[in-house]
Amino acid sequence: MLQLLKSHTSVRKYTDEKISDEQLYELLEAAQYSASSHFVQAYSVIHVKEEEKIKKFAALTNNEFQFTTAPVALLFCADLKRNVKAVEMHGKELIGDRVEDFLVAAVDTAIYAQNFVIAAESKGYGICYIGGARNNPAEISDLFDLPEYVIPLFAMTVGVPTKKNEVKPRLPLEAIVHVDGYNEEKYDDLLKEYDETYNNYIKARTNNKKNITWTESMADFWPKPRRAHLKEFVQSKGYLNE
Ligand SMILES: Cc1cc2nc3c(=O)[nH]c(=O)nc-3n(C[C@H](O)[C@H](O)[C@H](O)COP(=O)(O)O)c2cc1C
Repeated sequence: MLQLLKSHTSVRKYTDEKISDEQLYELLEAAQYSASSHFVQAYSVIHVKEEEKIKKFAALTNNEFQFTTAPVALLFCADLKRNVKAVEMHGKELIGDRVEDFLVAAVDTAIYAQNFVIAAESKGYGICYIGGARNNPAEISDLFDLPEYVIPLFAMTVGVPTKKNEVKPRLPLEAIVHVDGYNEEKYDDLLKEYDETYNNYIKARTNNKKNITWTESMADFWPKPRRAHLKEFVQSKGYLNE
């Protein structure tokens, strides 16, 4: 299991091999045994099968190549809708507008999805998360009839990898783990060390070589405006109106 976890790489090119519904649903069902905050199980998956819908979905995520060449396209949604129903069945009301409600649904969905990823990788499949599902969330909601409290969080392609990419080196464990309290002073040294490791990897990898460090790529990424429409969209679905 540890070896499997440490060999993860995103896969962006798949062979023609199909994945049957039976094979896929076995993995999606296994993933449901993930932990869930207060057991709310606040997630849904849209399995996009119809060719026309895949095309529209691909365009809306700005990810034509991956979706039109992958055997499986999934959309993971943070979802309190079933909980709304459950509560209504007992004459009460769920108003999921607190920050906590949004976090619970988003965290549950991410844990579920990652359990699915591990299940899929354990069977030799590859996956790629697609954050582009948040590029046009209102249009994606319309495409799949997503009701109130159902938010497209991220998409995913699944298939048999054509090849395995080199594993990206992660931050040193010491940068992630803080013993008995947060220590930011160590970052200067640790980030310099990691920049060198990352730069050596990215200069030498087979595809998409670059001469860049991790901190440089973060400095490039963070200042750019990103999906400014999301606040209004999430609020329109009933969340974060507290
Ligand atoms: C929520 C999420 C969204 C992502 N969105 C995209 C995406 O839109 N396109 C893409 O090619 N990779 C996407 N990725 C993959 C990351 O780029 C990738 O996980 C990261 O660079 C680490 O590389 P690795 O997965 O190969 O180890 C996403 C990953 C996550 C967790």
